[in-house]
Amino acid sequence: MCSKKYFINKIVCLFILGFVFFSCKHGESEYHGVIDKIESESKDYHGTSLSSEPYFDGVKLIEITEGEHTFLVPERKSAINMFSCTECHTKPLAQMQDGSNKKAHWDIKLVHANQNTMNCITCHNPDNMDDLRGLTGNQIDFNNSYNLCSQCHSKQFEDWKGGAHGKRIGGWAPPRASMTCVNCHNPHEPHFESRWPARFNTQKVIERE
Ligand code: HEC
Ligand code: HEC
Ligand code: HEC
Ligand code: HEC
Repeated sequence: MCSKKYFINKIVCLFILGFVFFSCKHGESEYHGVIDKIESESKDYHGTSLSSEPYFDGVKLIEITEGEHTFLVPERKSAINMFSCTECHTKPLAQMQDGSNKKAHWDIKLVHANQNTMNCITCHNPDNMDDLRGLTGNQIDFNNSYNLCSQCHSKQFEDWKGGAHGKRIGGWAPPRASMTCVNCHNPHEPHFESRWPARFNTQKVIERE
């Protein structure tokens, strides 16, 4: 008798164990994580499939991979009127500058870091204007200018890669497309004045109390 009871207990126990182990496909534990759930449910969300793609109309995007992040950013070269630079910059810059004070790019005023830290050729390559130039002399494509900024602003760059600094094009649904640094910051004058709400609503404060 005693051994029979023990046997039944054992079966019940196995049954419960089995339920715990194999119930992953049911109820709350259907997904293995939040990302899993979002990806799965966005495939057929209320009968539609969620995508940011409809918002990309007219924006030329390129795919980039930075560390473990792969996403889309707007292409830049076709947006720069002056490109390609080598239409005029056919020879090294030194040979183009005749010593006169006439500035071809008189409309560009550098308001970024101070003059001891930065001048035009900190970022532009005097021997090949069609590419940007990093601090170690490395060549950087205009489409990847975030790699220029990242040299000195690594904190914002890390945030940007993860999606915490900057803005998405479209929504949170995949595929991810993010604005690149120069979509918001003019590289020659990148600072934004901090802005505050135009008016502090004192009436609302009184109502809330
Ligand atoms: C319409 C002709 C023209 C085009 C296009 C052009 N440049 Fe220039 N640029 C010049 C001339 C001429 C000079 C030399 C005179 C001077 O220093 O201003 C010059 C000078 C420069 C300088 C040195 C400025 C200084 O003050 O030392 C930089 C940097 C520069 N160009 C970058 C570019 C870049 C980057 C592009 C493309 C995105 C470009 N340029 C396209 C004509 C041009
Ligand atoms: C901090 C790096 C940096 C410095 C310093 C810098 N540039 Fe640029 N410049 C850029 C980047 C990045 C772009 C491309 C921006 C884009 O994608 O729209 C650019 C674009 C340009 C262009 C083409 C677009 C336009 O605005 O006409 C010209 C011309 C140019 N730079 C000239 C200059 C000159 C002249 C100087 C010095 C007075 C200078 N740059 C200093 C990073 C820099
Ligand atoms: C060679 C180093 C260097 C590079 C490259 C560089 N910056 Fe800067 N940047 C500085 C320094 C130095 C300052 C001024 C100090 C400060 O305010 O952080 C500055 C200031 C700024 C500011 C203003 C900060 C504020 O407090 O408002 C912004 C925005 C900015 N940079 C964006 C950019 C972007 C975008 C790029 C790429 C196109 C870039 N920087 C490339 C060194 C750099
Ligand atoms: C969608 C627009 C947008 C994009 C994209 C963007 N920024 Fe900014 N960034 C801003 C705004 C707006 C501020 C000002 C925030 C404030 O003053 O509170 C800012 C502030 C900054 C500052 C000043 C310090 C700070 O954190 O407040 C730096 C430096 C900077 N950005 C660098 C970058 C770099 C580097 C990239 C690309 C890797 C980038 N930003 C991409 C909009 C943008």
